[in-house]
Amino acid sequence: QRSLLGLKELSKEEISSILDRAAYWEANPNKIEPVAQGKFVANMFFENSTRTRFSFEVAEKRLGAEVLNFSAAVSSVQKGESIYDTVRTLESMGIDAGVIRLKPIGLLAELAKKIKVPLINAGDGNNEHPTQALLDLYTMRKQFGELKGLNVSIVGDIMHSRVARSNLYALQKFGANVRFCAPDNMKAAELDAPYVSMEEALRADVIMMLRVQLERHESGMINSAEAYREHFGLTEERAATIAPHAIIMHPAPINRDVEIDDSLVEHPQSRIFPQMSNGVPIRMTVIERALS
Ligand code: CP
Repeated sequence: QRSLLGLKELSKEEISSILDRAAYWEANPNKIEPVAQGKFVANMFFENSTRTRFSFEVAEKRLGAEVLNFSAAVSSVQKGESIYDTVRTLESMGIDAGVIRLKPIGLLAELAKKIKVPLINAGDGNNEHPTQALLDLYTMRKQFGELKGLNVSIVGDIMHSRVARSNLYALQKFGANVRFCAPDNMKAAELDAPYVSMEEALRADVIMMLRVQLERHESGMINSAEAYREHFGLTEERAATIAPHAIIMHPAPINRDVEIDDSLVEHPQSRIFPQMSNGVPIRMTVIERALS
């Protein structure tokens, strides 16, 4: 049984094997392999989610698991119960694995030391979002065949982005060239990737736009949505300059007409909805790995 706390500590070989197994699940969508039959998996979301939560649920059900959906908003967390006590409670009831999304940074690592069942990180603060990056790598590998030498620009709110961090850690293991582009007040100095201009960022194989995470901002971080779009948005004009083979990605949810123009979300070069589809086989693999 294996937890998945982040991609920083996962080897290139382990990541490759997850991507390969996800390709198997994608190629066999109707194959019934109840590898999780009789196993209880709890989805514990202490922060809001649509894609991650529901694609985990679809993945778990496709593997035959018994799914428990925990929602902090209607739980005893509202009475002041701690996250540790909540997870420990579900563990006491006999869950076999837990999928967990948290806001506080560092708490997941602490929980993993005390909780015996495997825990899967569904996004913790601005630390890591490993299954998102796995589905991103899967999407890129499907498009380009391999990740080595791929030029990937990640544009936007790097400072608050767990997606940027997990992608950086994983892509660099494969020899991809990751560059960031961000306003000065959204840069993360501790991350090991060069910052480039917006013009330079558009010269890439993958242009990954990030959501401006207003809920994590201190006041005054952006002057206006219009100003952000003008300087760092993927506008129709800018998209017209990208290479014909390049793809546009975004983890979503999207602030349409802020970091990406509305008309580009389903552009032929966009892989935004395919990314969401790819989340299911990736999460099937991660659940299978946790339970096996
Ligand atoms: N990409 C992503 O994590 O989306 P949700 O917040 O909706 O899960």
